[in-house]
Amino acid sequence: MQRTDTTYDNVSHVNHGFQHEEQRPLPYAPPSGVNPALPQYPSPQNPQYPYQISHPPHSLDRYSPAQNLHQYTPQTAPVNTHHTVAHGLYLDANPVHKAAPRRKKWPIIVGILTTLLVVGGAIAVVLWFYGVFDCNLGRRCQTDNKCVGLSQWCNGVQDCSSGEDESNCFRLFGSNFVLQKFSNERKNWENVCSNEWNDNLGRQACEKIGYDRNTYVGFDEINISGCPSNKGVALKCIECGLNNMRRIVGGSTVTSKGTWPWQVSLQISRNHVCGGSIITPYWIVTAAHCVDELSNAGAWTVYAGFLTRTEMRSATGNSVSRIVKHSNFEPRTNENDIALMKLTHPLTMTSNVRPVCLPNEGMYFDAPRECYITGWGTLSSGGSAPDTLQEAKINLISRTTCNNRPVYNGRITETMICAGKLQGGVDSCQGDSGGPLVVRENSLWWLVGDTSWGDGCAFRNKPGVYGNVTYFRDWIYEQMRKY
Ligand code: ARG
Repeated sequence: MQRTDTTYDNVSHVNHGFQHEEQRPLPYAPPSGVNPALPQYPSPQNPQYPYQISHPPHSLDRYSPAQNLHQYTPQTAPVNTHHTVAHGLYLDANPVHKAAPRRKKWPIIVGILTTLLVVGGAIAVVLWFYGVFDCNLGRRCQTDNKCVGLSQWCNGVQDCSSGEDESNCFRLFGSNFVLQKFSNERKNWENVCSNEWNDNLGRQACEKIGYDRNTYVGFDEINISGCPSNKGVALKCIECGLNNMRRIVGGSTVTSKGTWPWQVSLQISRNHVCGGSIITPYWIVTAAHCVDELSNAGAWTVYAGFLTRTEMRSATGNSVSRIVKHSNFEPRTNENDIALMKLTHPLTMTSNVRPVCLPNEGMYFDAPRECYITGWGTLSSGGSAPDTLQEAKINLISRTTCNNRPVYNGRITETMICAGKLQGGVDSCQGDSGGPLVVRENSLWWLVGDTSWGDGCAFRNKPGVYGNVTYFRDWIYEQMRKY
């Protein structure tokens, strides 16, 4: 974390002022519909429907036009031979007049039939390719390739072996955690009404979203339209985003434990390597580039609830059982720079160890929104590392501004979010990676980014670039469900 009081020249030439984001961050899944991670309807014409375009090799077993063509060819030959023999019989009866026209007819018929079959086969291949024969009355499960009827998705009964037909049916909306359910009949998200709700269902919904039933808090009735008494459900799957609020001074040493209780230090051989954020007692969000070449879970130790490196030196820390790196992480560009660490044993939550909230559906964080970064990273580019956790107040920078030629000239994709000061002076730096970029909303702290990259640190026009956690929400939940 770097903070200098340096005044930079030409600030007005550089800072073009706030420009609104033109695009909302898109979820990681194919960007379409209300929630791209949800059942996409298997219209064969819909090119965004992911399961019909790619055909697993064994779909050939079900319908193989190629096979039909092969079967045909050997059949043609014997038929032809047989009739040639018959010619011999006819020759006895009428040796001259009958043999000549028959010899010309058969090759023509065979030719026509072959052409028809080839054309028919080609049409079948095309139809099959576009999914007409491929589960056209339902949707295919990704894991077991079973074709499950549309009405069976989100009906409360698990049909795919992985349960994916029931896993994207609930979501939390907005900073009040309004519970929504996907309606199969109306094909949209609807608020869940509190008159038909209880804690048992709440626990189940939280589990389906990706949380552990042990972190379940409860639900509140919330005023909402479209319900009998206009009462909906605000579902708390985990107590998140709370801290011991002290007065925050931008860009300085953190003085109290519990100010950023989700901040962890990720270490290898007792050396701080990267930062991370607690999102549940088991799961830490960090950057993919932190674990890219150090992907062995056993090498890492997670330190939670500490303020100084000194304290951590004499502490035990928590072992890691699994590292899940985003499979589309691109080290050259830092595209999809996000990873998860699962701890061997769950963290015990205290006032100094607490999870941050993951942004809900419908939450957008726009420039120039105030936000905070924290970490044990170096105090300047190539500089020394602090003993005590540092914090800095910065602002979100729109993707448009951040992609301007003097800034990052088009290198900022939708999987990234920029934050900092265009005039320079305050920024995250080496060793802050993987750590949190948080925003306060509705009295809670939300994880908006994970520290990813930058050209140097705190230079003018080179703000910090963070993994766009809002964009990765569905990916994160999917991994938490899977592992
Ligand atoms: N990649 C760095 C790390 O591994 C973080 C760099 C952040 N840079 C910046 N200018 N904000 O720690």
